[in-house]
Amino acid sequence: MYRTIRTGSPRKSTLLVGLPTGTTRLPKPLVAFDEAHGARIRQAMKSRMFSGKEGDVVVEGDDVLLVGLGDQNTIDLNSIRRLGGRLVRKLHAMDIQALDVQLDLTIPRRIADPESVGQALAEGMVLANWEVDFFDGKASTNEPASGSLSLGASCQEVRGGMRRGIILAESTNESRRLSATPPNICVPSWVAQQARAAARKHGMKCRVISFAEAKRLGMGGLVNVGIGSSNKPCMMILEHKPARPRPGHRLALVGKTMTYDSGGYSLKISNTMKGMKYDMNGGAAVFGAMIAIARLKLPVHVFGVLPCAENLVSGDAYRPDDIITMFNGVTVEVTNTDAEGRLILGDALSWTCRKIKPTAIVDVATLTGGVVVGLGHFCAGLWCEDAPFRNQIEEAAESTGERVWQLPLWEAHRKFMRAQHADLWNSGPNRNAHPIQGAAFLSYFVDDDVPWAHLDIAGVSAVDKRDDLHVVGPTGYGVRLLSELVARTGA
Ligand code: BES
Ligand code: MN
Ligand code: ZN
Repeated sequence: MYRTIRTGSPRKSTLLVGLPTGTTRLPKPLVAFDEAHGARIRQAMKSRMFSGKEGDVVVEGDDVLLVGLGDQNTIDLNSIRRLGGRLVRKLHAMDIQALDVQLDLTIPRRIADPESVGQALAEGMVLANWEVDFFDGKASTNEPASGSLSLGASCQEVRGGMRRGIILAESTNESRRLSATPPNICVPSWVAQQARAAARKHGMKCRVISFAEAKRLGMGGLVNVGIGSSNKPCMMILEHKPARPRPGHRLALVGKTMTYDSGGYSLKISNTMKGMKYDMNGGAAVFGAMIAIARLKLPVHVFGVLPCAENLVSGDAYRPDDIITMFNGVTVEVTNTDAEGRLILGDALSWTCRKIKPTAIVDVATLTGGVVVGLGHFCAGLWCEDAPFRNQIEEAAESTGERVWQLPLWEAHRKFMRAQHADLWNSGPNRNAHPIQGAAFLSYFVDDDVPWAHLDIAGVSAVDKRDDLHVVGPTGYGVRLLSELVARTGA
């Protein structure tokens, strides 16, 4: 794939135009282009290979690329994003180095404005261009990335959209790089280094709460979950503080960052441990979102909080039956050391409420296997009892194509998490509604008056089958969704 994809105004570039299914006559906006390119668009239209279906691509000469946009009624930002994803592989195979994007001419504004068209196309291209190649060794047979692609457009809005799309997808790919880094390298201190480096590079502040400090602060959740590993836990706080933020908003994004989850003494059996390097994908999503927010210079004051630990077994590890005291003074009976995410998040959420005093909080976590059973890889589970905030999240998710589905969180669920010998248990006596148990547990660590949403991304943050936008591995789910939410905050 390409080494880089950038915007630019190339001298010699291939024209990219699209037509929906069933187009019989050349649409007016394309007539001038057709003339300038020796009637090759018309020629491409007549090709037997072209019906306008999603996936149709006809190349005419080396200067015209005609793509199918699919049924007029089903074109949306998702289909344009997917088109970008499929195209980038083809373009690379054809050794195309520059593209003149004119898709906006044939996509009606009521479906997508030119900026959104440019953004979705570029997002799709940069997301699909990503591969896990940084561990290719001496015996690798993969082709190394090569060449660069320059994206141009005569429409200024399309160019602006492409610039934005590239930033969002590159930030998503930064998130994916962290996720894909294996747990023997990606340990909590390594994540801290990555956070510090990203802060330096993108003009954010970064604070790291060390293991010693976490102990001093009484973060019983973070400390106990991480104590069994010689790679001790820590918590990173990234801060994006624009010069003139929209007044009245302090948004906090909190991400579960387990660099590895063996289950602890409640060990993961059979082959369920494999893949638990991805148990940091919530934190990775927050990390990527903070980079996007900083690079886009969004005018909102935002904090990214990453509680980070490794859940292992050792003579020092915590055990089922332990009773621990959390940062906010709530006591928890550990019934299952594999329900560890909620323990590190509980501390992070209550620390965030007390120290940051946010106006709203979103936490993102690969929290339960139950949400994978219930919702699969189709959408994340969403818990949010604040209707306006939930609507904002649902709208952001709709526009980025990172889908969410709401599940309930009632007083009955909260009561279910109360234990006999401590305030709470970290997991109930059975698996009934266990993704909701996780959300209910977390609610004890968020101040009542702060709008709060919990996203369980266990099913969507990595894929085991490639699709138009993703290779097998981390998807970076949440980076674009959180960035979009921030962009809409107070706007
Ligand atoms: N990290 C896991 C959840 C998970 C499972 C993520 C599969 C991705 C794929 C989490 O820490 C966990 O182990 N959850 C338990 C909770 C249970 C003990 C209540 C689970 O889902 O089994
Ligand atoms: Mn676990
Ligand atoms: Zn976990």
